[in-house]
Amino acid sequence: MIEANTTARLRAEVAALRAQGKRIAFVPTMGNLHAGHRRLMEEARKYADAVVVSIYVNPLQFGPKEDFASYPRTPAQDHALLGDVGVDLLFAPGEREIYPRGRERQTQVEVPQLGQILCGAFRPGHFRGVTTVVARLFQLVTPDVAIFGKKDYQQLLMIRLMVSDLGMPIEIIGIDTVREPDGLALSSRNSYLSADERRTAPILYKTLGRVRDRMRQGVARAAAEEGALTELRAAGWRPDYVSVRRANDLGEPEEGDKSLIVLTAAWLGRTRLIDNLEFQA
Ligand code: PAF
Repeated sequence: MIEANTTARLRAEVAALRAQGKRIAFVPTMGNLHAGHRRLMEEARKYADAVVVSIYVNPLQFGPKEDFASYPRTPAQDHALLGDVGVDLLFAPGEREIYPRGRERQTQVEVPQLGQILCGAFRPGHFRGVTTVVARLFQLVTPDVAIFGKKDYQQLLMIRLMVSDLGMPIEIIGIDTVREPDGLALSSRNSYLSADERRTAPILYKTLGRVRDRMRQGVARAAAEEGALTELRAAGWRPDYVSVRRANDLGEPEEGDKSLIVLTAAWLGRTRLIDNLEFQA
């Protein structure tokens, strides 16, 4: 695996891949790689001849009181996984490479409306930080296809809109969430959980399953959401939201909408976890 830490080296390596006629798939990450990321890289391989992965903990997508400083950084473990998967090129830049004029002066990319609901309402500026860094990474890596996990479903939809609105010639692929055997979605933030919290954590996904079941039994959407909030609170969570939405655009479902998704973000102690479940009504 080749590692590029500067944009100059990255561009040179991408040019070399292009000169060999290779199609490029890109998996952007913030490191602390786990089996969920591994699945993204394995899928990426199916769409292209060369797989490029970035590792960059993007300060712009963290709020002032969030976990940017403590976000897990595990470069040795990450290198081992990337080598094992057979990734072709790792881009692991420092902040000056991504935001050369400083993050405060960086031109930003914002997807309105979708960026303000659900997680966007609880994490002001978060999605603007995500779309800004992904746009910058796309401009540097110039991939043919980019792979994102569906655990961050709202992020996936926003990136699709950004690519469409800005006419970026990149295919965006969403990959199903990888879960622990007990249903907990894999996440770097799972490492923040205490042993007790880890035992409680699978309740989040089970609660989403109950929302789906109740909706299918004819329970009204608001009642199904309220029931889930009550159950989560009773189990010691502090939910930000549980919300049933249309799967294609995260709009409020209307009579007759069949492809739905229930999404949640909830705190367990000092850890905020997100999850979602797509279903047919
Ligand atoms: O999903 C993530 O890990 C991040 O939001 C991403 C897409 C790498 C941008 O920093």
